[in-house]
Amino acid sequence: MPKGKKTVFFCQNCGYESPKWMGQCPGCRQWNTFAEEIISTGNKGISVQSPGSGVKNKPVALTKIQAGEDDRIKTDMEELDRVLGGGIVQGSMVLVGGDPGIGKSTLLLQVCRQLSGKGHKVLYISGEESLRQIKLRAERIGEFNDQLLLMCETNLETIRQTIEEVKPEAVVIDSIQTMYNEQVSSAPGSVSQVRESTGILMQIAKGLGISVFIVGHVTKDGSVAGPRVLEHMVDTVLYFEGDRQVAYRILRSVKNRFGSTNEIGVFEMQDKGLAEVKNPSQAMLNGRPTDASGSVVVCSIEGTRPILIEIQALVTKTNFGLPRRTSVGIDYNRVNLLMAVLEKRAGLHLGDWDAYVNLAGGMRLGEPAIDLGIVLAIASSYKNKVVDEGLLIFGEVGLSGEIRGVSMAEQRVREAEKLGFTACLMPKANLDSIQGKYRIRLIGASNIKEAMEYI
Ligand code: TYD
Ligand code: MG
Repeated sequence: MPKGKKTVFFCQNCGYESPKWMGQCPGCRQWNTFAEEIISTGNKGISVQSPGSGVKNKPVALTKIQAGEDDRIKTDMEELDRVLGGGIVQGSMVLVGGDPGIGKSTLLLQVCRQLSGKGHKVLYISGEESLRQIKLRAERIGEFNDQLLLMCETNLETIRQTIEEVKPEAVVIDSIQTMYNEQVSSAPGSVSQVRESTGILMQIAKGLGISVFIVGHVTKDGSVAGPRVLEHMVDTVLYFEGDRQVAYRILRSVKNRFGSTNEIGVFEMQDKGLAEVKNPSQAMLNGRPTDASGSVVVCSIEGTRPILIEIQALVTKTNFGLPRRTSVGIDYNRVNLLMAVLEKRAGLHLGDWDAYVNLAGGMRLGEPAIDLGIVLAIASSYKNKVVDEGLLIFGEVGLSGEIRGVSMAEQRVREAEKLGFTACLMPKANLDSIQGKYRIRLIGASNIKEAMEYI
């Protein structure tokens, strides 16, 4: 091996670095994920320089630091602004992850359109598509003005020079996995390339005060391809998810240095690009079957916003020895656990019944407040009794069958009333603080046996 070249092994899953090959990664416990990558020794490590590094830093008293409101650029796409915490912070770096074909490029091109429409200079750099392809997409989205500049480039040195020359206010890098830096000899998309490229873009963002959006593809197991290290480096991580067969797309923030996480934005993929869904509850409940057993409506708080959504369960007799259980949009283990609670605490014999539990609209929910809804959907299908379609259900279910109080109960009740529900089945513990404030009928239950009387 020529002098000055050194190879290290990187875990392609989590970015763990090791001088020798290993079968199992000590970082993430995955097997066979190590790949050899050449790094040149002249380049001392791969580190993100903090803004102003090289200058001798002195500690400063916290009280002496002036920090006005962040400078934010609003995109006027409300769903996106909210997920970002109120707009794009200048000099911030946002990673947008998602499956291929989910609409990341479309979303960012629309962001570019909004920003350039407001007179901000924007540079869109694509390493995946030709100018013609981007033009074709842009034609579907709408009119653009001269403030949006396009470039097809994958060499980071050229990109850096261009950014310094053009001085845009925002830059979009369409797919960090296609970018490469000549100083790193491994292939584009490998851990060290992606890490190094992100580091360089970070310096550009912080140094010049440019907001940078980077697109990252997601691997099969759901992490941004290869390096989770990437997530530590950037300011904000957004995931764009949804079922490709369903038109709804959910933009979720999993990390945000300038706002709250758990916030979601809902979009719908149309033939003219992504449209915002301002009232997701209504959209999610569209086409709900009436008079069908196993269908209930629950309320989940996503970030600061309550979302009503339908849970469907189908419970049928098992044909084989082992009952089949599947869940879509809800944690599979949670469904199994709740079925065990139903069996033990409510005397439902589900042992030789199959159960299929689905969340409508391609959503994914993890809030425990939907427990009671899952329980009642299963019980409703098992008993073949219809749950009143004007009933909204929320509450967390414990292992002894008790219904526990949940946070933000009042917001849930308000949303239910707004959408024309007539009654709310909720934890007794939450009842006192809300009783009498709303016209909607409130029913408190303290365990699942009590709750099952309402189906
Ligand atoms: P794209 O943004 O290319 O996905 P990604 O960058 O995440 O890989 O989105 C591609 C999909 O979106 C493609 O299947 C076509 C569809 N689409 C529409 O349905 N309507 C539209 O207006 C546009 C631009 C794309
Ligand atoms: Mg794309």
